[in-house]
Amino acid sequence: MPKSVTTGTVSNTYENPYPSPDLEARFPFISYQFQRRPKAEMLERAQAFHAQAEKRRSIRMFSSDPVPRELIELAVRSASTAPSGAHKQPWTFAATQDPEVKSILRVAAEKEEQANYLLNRMNAEWIEAVAPMGTDHHKEYLEVAPWVVVLFEHRYERRQDGSTRKNYYVKESVGMAAGLFVAALQNMGLVTLAHTPSPMAFLRPLLGRPENERPFAMFPIGYPLEGVKVPDLRRKSLDEIYVEVGQKE
Ligand SMILES: Cc1cc2nc3c(=O)[nH]c(=O)nc-3n(C[C@H](O)[C@H](O)[C@H](O)COP(=O)(O)O)c2cc1C
Repeated sequence: MPKSVTTGTVSNTYENPYPSPDLEARFPFISYQFQRRPKAEMLERAQAFHAQAEKRRSIRMFSSDPVPRELIELAVRSASTAPSGAHKQPWTFAATQDPEVKSILRVAAEKEEQANYLLNRMNAEWIEAVAPMGTDHHKEYLEVAPWVVVLFEHRYERRQDGSTRKNYYVKESVGMAAGLFVAALQNMGLVTLAHTPSPMAFLRPLLGRPENERPFAMFPIGYPLEGVKVPDLRRKSLDEIYVEVGQKE
């Protein structure tokens, strides 16, 4: 019997095994294939992943050099391995490399952003927060980058027979897929920017997506323009973002 609740000593014995025989009789289960790695290798991999993650930056000047579709598709497939509430996978990645579509996206995004930046739709606090990024209403990168991917969240599920079902934890799920998408792109040697023109509703009709979908973010994707600069930002230290609770080993 597990004693963790009362004593802190944990055994590997479960009172309530998963799946229960009853559950396994009703739904299919498979054995999870897993191989433990030696501790030293785990540390090495963890350090290597962290070192790579630290190098990721949001890029706002892309090269127009082409990127094969296969890479974009692989990034989407990786993103779609993200966990999602009730395994609903409530996302669509709408990708384009069509200059005409990218141009339409740029014009539409700049129109919204003009209202933000030039017609005082942003409040003082928002303006102050984005000041170090130096963002403005110009979105040339939407035309120059070889690919633009717009990630849509599914507010609810629409089945082929026309019926609908609720989706669960949509924002949380799509946020996880987005993070994985960004990491996959970086891992294959590409750069991107999470861009959220506000409001983004214009993207759904422009890209012909159905009514149950809502834009979550758009991602220009490609190689960085040679010599590109990024804001000199500081990332929070471990002390600022991590707490360990309870008795320490
Ligand atoms: C949800 C989300 C929305 C963002 N929207 C924009 C945006 O509309 N325009 C922009 O230039 N950057 C945008 N960013 C990028 C952030 O400004 C950037 O991630 C942050 O400054 C940290 O820089 P880094 O990504 O280089 O580490 C967004 C990032 C996230 C996660």
